[in-house]
Amino acid sequence: MSGERPADAPDAGAVDAEPVLRAIRTRRVVRALAEAPVDPEHLRAVLDSVRYAPHAGNRRLHRYVAVTRPGLLRAIRMVSPGMLQHPAAAIVVCVDWAGVRAYGFPESNPGPYIDVGTAAATMLLAAHALGLGAGPVTSFSRAAVAVLLGAPDGVRPELIVCLGHPSPQQPPPVRRTGGPAWDDLVRWEQF
Ligand SMILES: Cc1cc2nc3c(=O)[nH]c(=O)nc-3n(C[C@H](O)[C@H](O)[C@H](O)COP(=O)(O)O)c2cc1C
Repeated sequence: MSGERPADAPDAGAVDAEPVLRAIRTRRVVRALAEAPVDPEHLRAVLDSVRYAPHAGNRRLHRYVAVTRPGLLRAIRMVSPGMLQHPAAAIVVCVDWAGVRAYGFPESNPGPYIDVGTAAATMLLAAHALGLGAGPVTSFSRAAVAVLLGAPDGVRPELIVCLGHPSPQQPPPVRRTGGPAWDDLVRWEQF
């Protein structure tokens, strides 16, 4: 075997653990966002990050709709009771459920939903690394957002990642003071 690595081979040694772990530890949902627009380069970087998220069956059954038009963002917000922030941009994670069925995933397979989570977590971390504020929203009308986005039949919005610049004034964090220590949630080997 030659010593050359394929271009897309995992390169664990190229990653400094500490900045990655710090980003994981310091990320918070940001619900107070300033009005300033998101730099299109930053938006593209967040969108690019999502293709590195792990996904079930290595299929591309999700679509990511980037929304920046203020009128459309306002309309989405009106049908999204869980959207407490006023985002400057949003990425709507959609599942192509027709594609899921065509691929042969049974209805009970949780893979497509788990993929929504891995996509969201990846984008939230990417946004945080870029200095953006971000927050996921699942409390919204899927039907209404599908209409607003002109989603094709069989494609349903499942989660919205709100993006913007964090406001200088932030509400106090809702967790981690007095929250569980890491080993409160862990069992070793068996329950
Ligand atoms: C699947 C999922 C759905 C969520 N839905 C909403 C939502 O609709 N609105 C909201 O403000 N936050 C939502 N959140 C954010 C959680 O409330 C937040 O992650 C939690 O309070 C912990 O805060 P932290 O991420 O800042 O540590 C959601 C998080 C997840 C994982």
